[in-house]
This record gives sequence, structure tokens and C-alpha cells, in this order.
Amino acid sequence: MPPEEPGASGLLDEVSGAERALAEAAARDRPDADGEAFFDAVIAADQKIEPRDAMPEAYRKTLVRQIAQHAHSEIIGMQPEGNWISRAPSLERKAILLSKVQDEAGHGLYLYAAAETLGVDRKDMYAQLLSGRQKYSSIFNYPTLTWADVGAIGWLVDGAAIVNQVPLCRCSYGPYARAMIRVCKEESFHQRQGFQSLYVLARGTTKQREMAQDAVNRYWYPSLAMFGPPDSDSTHSEQSMEWKIKRYTNDELRQRFVDMTVQQAGVLGLDLPDPDLAWNEERGHYDFTQPDYGELFDVIKGNGPCNRKRMEHRRRAAEDGEWVAQAAREYARKQAERTAVSV
Ligand SMILES: [Fe+2]
Ligand SMILES: [Fe+2]
Repeated sequence: MPPEEPGASGLLDEVSGAERALAEAAARDRPDADGEAFFDAVIAADQKIEPRDAMPEAYRKTLVRQIAQHAHSEIIGMQPEGNWISRAPSLERKAILLSKVQDEAGHGLYLYAAAETLGVDRKDMYAQLLSGRQKYSSIFNYPTLTWADVGAIGWLVDGAAIVNQVPLCRCSYGPYARAMIRVCKEESFHQRQGFQSLYVLARGTTKQREMAQDAVNRYWYPSLAMFGPPDSDSTHSEQSMEWKIKRYTNDELRQRFVDMTVQQAGVLGLDLPDPDLAWNEERGHYDFTQPDYGELFDVIKGNGPCNRKRMEHRRRAAEDGEWVAQAAREYARKQAERTAVSV
């Protein structure tokens, strides 16, 4: 028996309601607690830390690193699919892809804003991305060779992102958790449009079907690698779990993704490129072949097929767009001046 699909919407239901808000207010209403005790109490009570609350420096730094990397991934992730906007096969597909890529820019915006609540400047994070000191998800260093890759990215890459991000809606840092709720709703649309696009291709001509299968073959293992190294090699996992930034380990999330995706591949009528994929009655999960983690580390180090191209593109965009940024800054300055005069 295949497992029940965990599903994004079911997990989203766990996210805060009025009761949570009341409990948070109660945790905050503790004049006796010093900073550390307050932080520990909020985490133990499974409540949210807010920007002005006391927090350990290491917690703040971990969040800055994670949220910045997440924000960079959203905007770098616009490139592989943006590559196909001008070549989408119909006006409808073009409109869908345009709005999807635009959503990713929006996700970057929410996330940079969430990171800024931790006292870092967006300009500095951006500079660290351009200098290579901060990373982005290695999945975006793979090329989009055919139109079917857009479908495979939506289905597999956005699908993996949902599995990773739904638990982040319950992350202990309030602004990150709240940004994730909106991001996950939009990611659901991304995943479905990818699935639907592949569904059509899989039922098209022989060539279209082959193109869809080839895209799935190339994106399957890099998607599995999106969950990061195995738990035995994961450096940040344990502490992040204690702080309730992370709720599940890399291996748990990877397994959840595989269990969901096998059934969806059956509906698509496409094969997943793993001959050892099999339902394990005892474990209640699918057995599968692990991705090549050597390749993952190599891509993280900068040696993926498109690392250089992605960064060159980003740097060029920063240089070419500087006049727009300058104009926006000047506009904001004038607006602030005007507001100050009228107050
Ligand atoms: Fe996104
Ligand atoms: Fe997405």
C-alpha cells in the first residue's frame, strides 16, 4: 500500500491561529524573565521569537545565513526558467511562466525583508551573494535544455521546495514563518502548473513524451539533493532542530518527497530514473537510490554546469540596473523629505 500523501494543505493547517496568538502574548507577559530565560521559555512553549525579542547571537546568525541563502535561491532560480519565457509554446504557457517567475522575485523580496528584521542590510546580503560568500540552492546551477525542463522544475523542484518549506511555516522565528505561509501557497501553484505541463507532454507526440521523460531523468537526482547532505553529514541540523528553526531532518524530508512523488509519477505515466525504487512494507516508505552527494558538494563549491553563468548574469543585472536602483533611492529620499515637511 502506498503511503498517504502528507500534502501541503494539511500541514499548513497546523500553522498558527488565534489560540497561538494568545499563547504568545502570555509567554511575552513575563516581566521576571531575563533575555535568555525568555528565549528558552518561548522556544520550549513552541511560540514565536519576534525581531525585538532577546535571542542568542548564534540563533540570529543561523537565521541570517539560512534566510539570506533562501532569498538568493529565489532570485537566482528565476534564471533557468526565465530562459524559456520568450520560447514558451503558447501565449497561455507564456503567461503562466511569466507569473511564476515573477512570484519567485516576490519570494526573494519577502525573504530579504524577513532577514532585514534581524539587523542585516539587503545591500550587504546582495554583495555577499555576488562575491560568492553566501550561497544559493545548487539546483539552479543545472541548465534548462528543453521546454519540458520548465515542467520538470515546476513538478520536482517546486515540489521539493514545498516539502522543505511547509514545516518552515512553523519555524520559531516569526517573520520567517509568516513569509513562508505565503510562499508555500504560491509554490503549490508552481508545482501544479509543472505537473500539468508534463501531463500534457506525456500524452502528446512520441517526441514530446520522450522530451518529458528526459527532463524528469535529468532533474530527479538533483531534486533529491535539494534536501541537503544525509543526516550523518549535516553540520547545522541538530542545533536548528533544538531552536525549532528546522522541524524535520534532511533525510525525513527527502523520504517524504519520494513517497509523494512516486504516486504522482504514476498519474503522469512517466518513470522515475531509479531501478531500485520499491515500496517497503516494513518501513512504510519507498526505498530509493540516494543522489550523488559528491556531485552536490562539487556543485556547491562552484563547479556545476551553470554556476559561472548564473553569477555573471546576476552581476550584469546589478550593473545594468544600477541606474534604476539609484532613481528609486532618490525617489524614496524625496518622498521622505516631503513627508517630513508635511508632518
Ligand atoms: Fe519560490
Ligand atoms: Fe516556486
